[in-house]
Amino acid sequence: MIKRIFIAMTVGIGIISFILYLTEKEETINKEVDLGVSIKYEPFKSNEDYLNIATEKFESWTIENEMKMSFIHPRENEFNFSKADEIVDYAKKNNLNVRGHTLVWGSSVPDWVKEKAVDSDSAKKILKNHIQNVVGHYKGKVDSWDVVNEAWEDDGSYTENIWYKLIGPEYIPLSFKWAREADPNAKLVYNDFNNQIINKKSKQMLKTLVGYKKDNIPIDGIGMQMHLNAEDPTFSPKNIEKQMNNIEKHGFQIEITEMDVNMKKIPDKESNIQSDIYTKVGEECKKSNACGGLTVWGVDDSYSWLSEKDKNATPLLFNYEGEKKDVYERLINILEETD
Ligand code: G3I
Repeated sequence: MIKRIFIAMTVGIGIISFILYLTEKEETINKEVDLGVSIKYEPFKSNEDYLNIATEKFESWTIENEMKMSFIHPRENEFNFSKADEIVDYAKKNNLNVRGHTLVWGSSVPDWVKEKAVDSDSAKKILKNHIQNVVGHYKGKVDSWDVVNEAWEDDGSYTENIWYKLIGPEYIPLSFKWAREADPNAKLVYNDFNNQIINKKSKQMLKTLVGYKKDNIPIDGIGMQMHLNAEDPTFSPKNIEKQMNNIEKHGFQIEITEMDVNMKKIPDKESNIQSDIYTKVGEECKKSNACGGLTVWGVDDSYSWLSEKDKNATPLLFNYEGEKKDVYERLINILEETD
């Protein structure tokens, strides 16, 4: 008898859990995913078509370069906010969300830091002052910050940037604490590439960030840059789904922060590969409870970091003439779809 009651209870709990699961999935489908874009200052100022596309076709802007430390903090006692201010003010007037990029990145360290940061104490003082001035300046205007960018290598070891060398790995949690002190309401994100699937680098990243979270370090989300290559045979939406679930399980939000799909050898006009990759990633973001935004890294192909190097690169949603590719409509339909 007791055995039968136990079985009935177990089945009952199973059915209730399944119904709750379905209800949750239902809510997910109706979740909004913002389509964002990174903005470069030069065309923002001088190219009206660029500005129209960026304002009308996207819901969130990331400042691509002008908030990086070597731009915004070029000398010890000098902050150069004016260019980023212009972009942020315009975005706010046009009801766009703003993503700040990026407070701490080993590849954007001005020369004066290399002279003045000589040991752990001096490096901490400089970094804290930098983060709190920049975040404080944009308090209430920047909705989410890429606080630390690219801190791990593909083999899972720490990137040997100046902050790591002088402060050690502690520079990561300290940066998040300092950012939170300067703006309690901004979303704080750790941002990296090749972390959209489970691999050595992303395992190390997640393990470390989960540990920080347990210690109450204010890390709200993980940014998946999502710089993809159409020729990559390992591309797998299933693996992205697994990683998104994995990250969600640990209580982090997810942002796709810098998406592009490099088409080195495959002209996009002759294939749907690029379009399929964008839409599959869009579908995974839409399905995931944790994923709130998908930002592409540039308005059109002529302003991509990839075409800075290769004039045949066509990685974005708008072409060199500023014309919309078919993929734009496919992607926006997925992100905006509701039941
Ligand atoms: O602003 C100067 C301009 O005054 C000068 O005339 C011109 C001459 O080359 O250079 C301009 O600066 C360039 C800047 O982009 C703005 O266009 C830099 O040389 C160039 O190195 C810089 O490249 C940026 C790169 O990060 C390095 O900061 C790319 O545009 C930007 O797309 C790229 O973005 C990174 C993310 O921040 C982090 N994740 C990877 C991603 C791609 O590398």
